[in-house]
Amino acid sequence: MRKKVSIIGAGNVGASTAQLIAQAGFADVVLFDIAEGIPQGKALDIAEACPLWSSTASVKGTNSYADTRDSDIVVIAAGFPRKPNMSRDDLLHANADVVKAASNAIAKTSPDAIVIVVTNPMDVMAQLAWKTTEFSCRRVMGMGGILDASRLRAFLAWELNVSPEDIEAIVLGGHGDQMVPLPRVTTVKGVPITELMGKKTIESLIQRTRNGGAEIVSLLKSGSAYYAPAAAVSQMVKSILFDEKRMLPCAAYLNGEYGIKDVYVGVPVILGKEGVEKVIEIKLTKEEKTQFKESCASVRKLIKKLSI
Ligand code: APR
Repeated sequence: MRKKVSIIGAGNVGASTAQLIAQAGFADVVLFDIAEGIPQGKALDIAEACPLWSSTASVKGTNSYADTRDSDIVVIAAGFPRKPNMSRDDLLHANADVVKAASNAIAKTSPDAIVIVVTNPMDVMAQLAWKTTEFSCRRVMGMGGILDASRLRAFLAWELNVSPEDIEAIVLGGHGDQMVPLPRVTTVKGVPITELMGKKTIESLIQRTRNGGAEIVSLLKSGSAYYAPAAAVSQMVKSILFDEKRMLPCAAYLNGEYGIKDVYVGVPVILGKEGVEKVIEIKLTKEEKTQFKESCASVRKLIKKLSI
């Protein structure tokens, strides 16, 4: 049986994700949006590229949730992106309505699906999707850490003049400004970057990573990043569909891990066919622990604002 991935939101992130999944031939793709014509047009365009990619994936655009029925994975990338001078939190209420509507529909049409939330503020939206769908927390997660880590890997690769492929980075905590980087376990083929570059340089690259989303927003003027976010989602989809059990930083529900309870926040997890199969607990230094707790507290604040 062919796998089915539905993407809610046919905007920049949703359509780019659809493209990557169809191009790689991972699964059949359904692209859903409330805007009429947009998902149909983008899906048709992607479908017409499949012969060139030697992909047999089917790609369908729709305005009806019925077409997403019995998806293996549903990606929620619907909502409003950030504008210049707008924080992710400003999006809170507008996007909460969108994520709630999508989650209610998913719970009805794809009760066995694994849900990946991209809509910002992502950690909070993942919590909302989990509460609304009433799915097991293993089957609801958010995309953020992979993107933050990828940005950091790119900056490190340019600075050190090495292949980004050889750089491994783990980022904890809330997505974006609140991320908690771990330079001590960020390595070039196992060699910690703390041995390869000075503290000041590391700090400045971390700062650029924290600000990575905003840097792109201010260049684009309207709209926010989508190529790297889509690539991050695609990596998660692949690890789940092919039961790769990759260890990737994702927003996952913490139930006592890291001494934190009842909040979605970025941690390394094992991603396989069951979804979040395990939360990996890394031993943190005192300073890292404090930063992580602060990060969780700011996610919690937004959760409270939404009364989730
Ligand atoms: N149901 C389905 N789709 C919706 C809904 C809804 N209730 N409300 C809005 N949309 C659609 C819009 O019609 C639009 O096509 O979501 C799409 C959003 O696309 P873009 O504006 O291009 O936004 P994008 O850059 O894709 O970002 C989407 O992901 O990274 C996050 O912060 C970003 O929250 C934002 C989300």
